[in-house]
Amino acid sequence: MIKGFIFDLDGVITDTAELHYVAWKNLADERGWLFDREVNDKLRGISRTDSMRVILEHNNTSLDEETLAQFAKKKNDIYVASLDGMTPEDYLPGVKELLTNLRIEGFSVALGSASKNAVKVLEQLNAKAFFDVIGDGNSVSKSKPEPDIFLYGAEKLNLQPEECVVFEDAESGIDAAKAGGFHSVGIGPEERLGHADLRFDSMEEATLFEIKSYFKDLF
Ligand code: BG6
Ligand code: MG
Repeated sequence: MIKGFIFDLDGVITDTAELHYVAWKNLADERGWLFDREVNDKLRGISRTDSMRVILEHNNTSLDEETLAQFAKKKNDIYVASLDGMTPEDYLPGVKELLTNLRIEGFSVALGSASKNAVKVLEQLNAKAFFDVIGDGNSVSKSKPEPDIFLYGAEKLNLQPEECVVFEDAESGIDAAKAGGFHSVGIGPEERLGHADLRFDSMEEATLFEIKSYFKDLF
């Protein structure tokens, strides 16, 4: 039976992908690196350091670990400053309704994000009360596509993976959910999320009614 829900943050609860893009672009322009929205899309669900490596690889270049960490910090400073402009108006359409309905119906809810800034984002949205457990980039060491962050959430909720539905907008996130034995809902295009159990183009379509209709025998 499905008793819990685990949500990715960036691209599922709120559209931080654009803010990540602007911050990386800022750094890339300063360094003279090529960086566009297509490369940015590959960074969905990927940790900050791994994102840095993807960008360097795209530019056929490499850096020693210390310099890489310095640049990653620089990007993060720009990103974190941009979060100050985020408000409770910035949930993606449909998200607040879904989280509210999950609370009303008594489901357990966790956050399963790769971001080390997840708490700051939830605070800006005033969303912390929707979550029983917050799993973020500080909770586990192995990032998606490894299932660790979702296993962490399920364990803290006292649930088995098969009792939870994971919501994800990243290809690596659905890979992680499947590797951990979770049910999965993909948010975004077929090309990226065709391997999810159930997929919607946007969170607006992902109502509790639709989810219950699809996983009907499990509710
Ligand atoms: C993920 C985002 O949620 O968090 C990635 O999809 C991001 O784009 C990653 O790189 C790490 O985030 P942060 O805030 O710790 O740099
Ligand atoms: Mg995401």
